[in-house]
Amino acid sequence: MSFPDHRPRRLRQSAAVRRLVRETHLVPQQLILPVFVREGLREPLPIGSMPGVVQHSVDSLRRAATAAAESGIGGIMLFGVPETRDAIGSAADDPEGILNVGARAVAEEVGGALVVQTDLCLDEFTDHGHCGVLRADGAVDNDATLERYASMAIAQARSGSELLGLSGMMDGQVAAVRRALDAEGLIDTIVMAYAAKYAGAFYGPFREAVDSQLKGDRRTYQLDAGNAREGVREAVTDVEEGADIVMVKPALPYLDVLVAVRDAVDVPVWGYQVSGEYAMIEAAAAHGWIDRRGAIMEALLGIRRAGADAVLSYWALEAAHWLREEL
Ligand code: PBG
Repeated sequence: MSFPDHRPRRLRQSAAVRRLVRETHLVPQQLILPVFVREGLREPLPIGSMPGVVQHSVDSLRRAATAAAESGIGGIMLFGVPETRDAIGSAADDPEGILNVGARAVAEEVGGALVVQTDLCLDEFTDHGHCGVLRADGAVDNDATLERYASMAIAQARSGSELLGLSGMMDGQVAAVRRALDAEGLIDTIVMAYAAKYAGAFYGPFREAVDSQLKGDRRTYQLDAGNAREGVREAVTDVEEGADIVMVKPALPYLDVLVAVRDAVDVPVWGYQVSGEYAMIEAAAAHGWIDRRGAIMEALLGIRRAGADAVLSYWALEAAHWLREEL
């Protein structure tokens, strides 16, 4: 009778040994909570497609920011939902626009305790729902959009946002924003580029969360699901343009892209566990078809293992709580 030469199970024999040899760890400071603030609300409003997530009033946003700071997570990312929209997204760079008002409130409440971040994109603010302004023929006008992003960047930084999440996928957006910030002396504002952002179905619940007006799709600017090399090229280009951090999004269906981007650049790489990833697990758990906590933590760890240094997740607070329990 022959016996195995290698016994990898030796290192799985007890919880104590498994804990000692685990390769990848997730800690609360690697989590970032995305939050929605909606103009004109008095009370937080639940988002049907994202059970447990709400649109905040400015007051409830302040409380959410305090809870986030107390939980020990690394950052909070704000998305704004304005009351009125127009073709160029005027509310986006208006200092009194809801996202900038929200950023000021959060910076005042928790600035210094965690990194205050804002989404920099026009889609929540335009009446057509696209991430940029449109040409007469209806196509998204890349270079005209860059001017709008530059103006948004200055407004957000002046409102107290420390990190701008450039999610519009326009060519040259990182360079345009960096140049505009520097020209205003805003040299400390961090630029995080959604470098490899893929077009697809996983943003569905988010579109309800921000009351999106989009009719068509974003396939002329977001990446095609089949293309990993192109995602890496976007990340490399963004770093060349001055991005301090790059992101891959969605996370779970694009773990291979995360691995490749982590390999190709030497800046921090983040992953965004998007609304569709959230909704899938919540829905399955609500049916009793999946172990909710187990699935959430396994997905988060998988995103870290693939190479994400930090993860945006709607479960950030709950996960941070569980991680502290496990210590
Ligand atoms: C664009 C933006 C989107 C998300 C983050 N920033 C929507 C889109 O590209 O359609 C999606 C996030 C999610 O689905 O959780 N401002």
